[in-house]
Amino acid sequence: MNPYPAMLVPPAIRTIDPYMPSKPDRHLMAAYGIDTLYRLNNNENPLGPPPGAAAAISGLRPERMAIYPSGDAYDLRGHIAKFLDVSPDQVVCGNGANEIIQFVISAYCGPGDNIVTGDKTFAVYEWVAEFSGVEARLTPMKDHGFDPDAMLAFMDGRTKILFVCNPNNPTGTYWNGQTLEAFLRAVDGRAMVVVDEAYCEFVDRPDFPDAATLLDRYPNLLVFRTFSKVYGLAGLRIGYLVGHRDAVYDVCRTRIVYSINAAAQAAAMAALGDTDHIHRTREMVADAKCYLTGALKGLGLPVIAGEGNYVIGGLPFNDQLAYRRLIRRGYMVRTMTSFRFPNHIRITLRRRPVMEGFVAALAAVLEKIT
Ligand SMILES: Cc1ncc(COP(=O)(O)O)c(C=O)c1O
Repeated sequence: MNPYPAMLVPPAIRTIDPYMPSKPDRHLMAAYGIDTLYRLNNNENPLGPPPGAAAAISGLRPERMAIYPSGDAYDLRGHIAKFLDVSPDQVVCGNGANEIIQFVISAYCGPGDNIVTGDKTFAVYEWVAEFSGVEARLTPMKDHGFDPDAMLAFMDGRTKILFVCNPNNPTGTYWNGQTLEAFLRAVDGRAMVVVDEAYCEFVDRPDFPDAATLLDRYPNLLVFRTFSKVYGLAGLRIGYLVGHRDAVYDVCRTRIVYSINAAAQAAAMAALGDTDHIHRTREMVADAKCYLTGALKGLGLPVIAGEGNYVIGGLPFNDQLAYRRLIRRGYMVRTMTSFRFPNHIRITLRRRPVMEGFVAALAAVLEKIT
C-alpha cells in the first residue's frame, strides 16, 4: 500500500488546524461525571422552534424522506420573498448561513483577492476566506464595534467583500441605519457588503436598520439571516441571503443545490415571522440579560453586553481553565481566546433558573481559583 499522499494538500491549507466541535453530551457527561449539561456555548434558543415549525417537522412522513427536497428551496424562497417584500429571485437559501458565507466567498474571490472584516467577530468569515486562499484583513474594533473608517482604510483594489455582523457576535454592538448607509455610500459599489443579521430578531431598538430595505439602492449589498437563532432550528441547518437579483445570480454560480433538507425547508416555512415566538424569546433573553449582567458585575467581573442572546464576561484567569472547571459543574461556555478575547467567556442567555445555576457555579470556580 502507498503511504497517504499528504503532499497533495496545499501548503497554505496544511497550516490550518481543523475546528474541533465539542463531543456529544452523553460523552461529556460521562467524562465529567455530571448528569445534566447546559450548553451555553452556541447561542441557541432554549425555547426551541415555534409550535408551527415543530408540527411541520413531526408531520413529515417517512416516505417523504426517499424523495429529494426542492433543490433551490423553491417554496421557502417564495415565502421569504413575501416576508421581506422582495422577489424570489433575490433569495438564496443554504445549509445554515455558514454555507452561504462559503457560496459568497467562492463567487466573488479568486487568488490574490481579499475580504475585510473586524478582528473580534464571527470567525467563519475569516476561516472560509483563509481556506479558500483569500486574504482576510481584520480591522481592530472600536468600542467593541465594527469601525467603518478602519474597514474603508483596509480596502484596496483586490477587496471583494466587506463583512459586517449586525449586531455583532460576540460583542452585541450594532451599526444604526445612518452608519450603515454612510458606509454603503463610502464603499460606492467597489466591493460587496455583507450585513450578517443572524441575531437581528433579538434587537428591539428603533435605530436598528433592516438592511433588506436598502437593497433597491445598493446592488452590492447582501443580507444574511438564519433560522438557527431566534427560530430555534439550529439542528436543521438553514439560513438565507437576500440581495440584488444580479448578485443572487452570481452567488448561485457557486451554490450547492439540494443542500437544504426537506425537514428544514418545511420547518423554516412554518417558523418565519412567528411574532409570538420572537416576543417570548426576547422576553426570556431580556430577563436573563438583566439578571446575568448584574450578577457578573456583582462578582467583580467586567461585562460586555449589547444586543443578541449572549453576554461576555471577563475573568481574572485563563478562559480554557474556566471552561474545564465550569463543565465539571454542568455548564459549557464559549471560550473567547479564539475570538481574540483572551480570558473572556461568552455565555448564551437562557431562562432564569439556568442562569442562576450558572452564576453559582462561576462563583464557586472563582472562589477556588482566586
Ligand atoms: C453572526 C453569525 N452568522 C452566522 C452564523 C451561522 O449560522 P448558521 O447556523 O445558520 O450556519 C452564526 C452562528 O453562530 C453567527 O453567530
